[in-house]
Amino acid sequence: MTAKVPMARLDRLLANLGYGSRREVGGLVARRQVMLDGEIVKDVGAKIPIVADLPERMKIVGKPIDPPAPLTLIMHKPLDVVCSHREAGRSVYELLPQRWRARTPALSSIGRLDKDTTGLLLITDDGPFLHRVISPRANVAKRYVATLDRPLEGGEVEAFAAGTLMLESETEPLAPALLEPLGPNAARLTITEGRYHQVRRMFAAVGNHVTALHRDRIGNLDLPADLQAGAWRILTANEQLSLFA
Ligand code: URA
Repeated sequence: MTAKVPMARLDRLLANLGYGSRREVGGLVARRQVMLDGEIVKDVGAKIPIVADLPERMKIVGKPIDPPAPLTLIMHKPLDVVCSHREAGRSVYELLPQRWRARTPALSSIGRLDKDTTGLLLITDDGPFLHRVISPRANVAKRYVATLDRPLEGGEVEAFAAGTLMLESETEPLAPALLEPLGPNAARLTITEGRYHQVRRMFAAVGNHVTALHRDRIGNLDLPADLQAGAWRILTANEQLSLFA
């Protein structure tokens, strides 16, 4: 049995992709600026198949249509940008095409990295996928490289692995975490939870201070070496699977 292809009215599809209000989209159609499979689409109510290869088939003002939902991106988050729509300062969403900020459903980051953390960030409009990645039950590991203000003292590996470490002002101990020293002032840390400022607070709990933090892996998905800070691309289906492998 083949799965039924979801369909959407052209005006709704384009409005949801941020091309303008349904009226503005009507203007694009009236100006004959919408093409599907090489033919001009004349009806704003035409039913359009929502398929992953739509950008290869549909052109808006001569350019491939933006990818339809569900859309998941992988980004190399640079320093000094925030992950929240609400927080002050430049946000990761400003690194994406401007039109994408008007998409429905909206794109949002899967978990957050602090303004001064760099590395692997996933951004999606796929709610069930987002919840699958952050769900405590999924136990998806997140790996960080931390640069530390003071040399490691020696007991941190056991302290983090114990499953008893308490963060300030919390009542539940942290799940066991894997710490791999990389040098006197650097370590790799793999955690399965996503508590607020967790890595920085873990090092604070053992009397140290993180001076730089970089996430290089989620599940079995590594930050691609060719993805420069500030760059992003669409996450492939295989990469999505590797998160849970
Ligand atoms: N833990 C932190 O402290 N900061 C981050 O950005 C991510 C994990």
